[in-house]
Amino acid sequence: MKGLILSGGAGTRLRPITHTSAKQLVPVANKPILFYGLEAMAEAGIGEVGIIIGETGDEIRGAAGDGSDFGLRITYIEQEAPLGLAHAVLIARDFLAADPFVMYLGDNILKEGIVDLVARFESENPNSQILLAKVAEPERFGVAELDGDRIVRLVEKPPEPPSDLALVGVYMFDETIHEAVRAIEPSPRGELEITDAIQWLIDDGRDVRPHLISGWWKDTGRLEDLLEANRLILETVTPAVEGSIDDKSDVVGRVTVQDGAEIIDSVIRGPAIIGRNSKVVRSFIGPFTSIYEDCEVIDSEVEHSVILESCRIRSISRIEDSLLGKEVIVEQDPQKPAALRLMLGDHSRLSLP
Ligand code: TTP
Repeated sequence: MKGLILSGGAGTRLRPITHTSAKQLVPVANKPILFYGLEAMAEAGIGEVGIIIGETGDEIRGAAGDGSDFGLRITYIEQEAPLGLAHAVLIARDFLAADPFVMYLGDNILKEGIVDLVARFESENPNSQILLAKVAEPERFGVAELDGDRIVRLVEKPPEPPSDLALVGVYMFDETIHEAVRAIEPSPRGELEITDAIQWLIDDGRDVRPHLISGWWKDTGRLEDLLEANRLILETVTPAVEGSIDDKSDVVGRVTVQDGAEIIDSVIRGPAIIGRNSKVVRSFIGPFTSIYEDCEVIDSEVEHSVILESCRIRSISRIEDSLLGKEVIVEQDPQKPAALRLMLGDHSRLSLP
């Protein structure tokens, strides 16, 4: 079996981060989201992986390389514009050839991995296996209507969902999907929808099997979901202290302090991770916080947040539910008159108490 990971897209819901970076490379528990997908592929014994890339292709190539770090062989497939998930299958035709494949959305994380799912697909050999998860807001997803074990209908982001079963961003197909993606037309939003392609398979009498997943699954395309994925993953990380913690600091719970990180006169309450060469001084880091490499948190409090590399947070009480991009500076400034002095990129969000 081959793998196809989708790492193009527009990422409008994660602006301004996605103005400059690929959302699939935002670290969750200090590991780029995309790497969870690559590791899942390798774990399932899939050796050949195609990655769909768009505007942020160079960054994705730089991070995943030729795949050897993951035990994979990666082929990059350029998509000229985010024309839809089924369009990604269309342009991957040469790479996929007639092989069955797992398609994995590069901003998704599936806790249980794909080992059992791939084994099941290979043993039952249907034309497609789709995964479903019960969700609270089905109107935000592709939704399945079932009749017993049979899928009757799939609808993309329905205002009135026929069920609470969302289509998870991991799909398995045999070569019949190529006929389907060629047969469908773009949706009203101008995309070739994978739900339409799967519906085409169903209407054509093909064997499409649903499977309700048992573990959690997260589509990290929105800030709230990214923070939740960070929370869920942090709860599973085995704590390790490779950096230094001074005597005046108090570190409790599931806390990882990565190589070269320094914790000075601070309280860290896990689950949390402090990245390589980051410094936390006279500060409080609360649960569900991931601080990436080369950051400085001084005289501040941070909780339930994801902080990317080389950020500086000084004298701020307190940051919660936040995502800071690379090299962001948030600090108190004694300069008079006391005022907010901002330089925020397009689509930034600032919520003041
Ligand atoms: P989405 O999150 O559905 O789309 P998006 O990335 O354009 O984001 P937004 O809705 O916020 O604008 O995409 C799911 C994954 O598939 C994500 O990793 C991007 C990728 N993708 C492609 O590679 N090509 C595409 O044409 C589309 C639509 C998405």
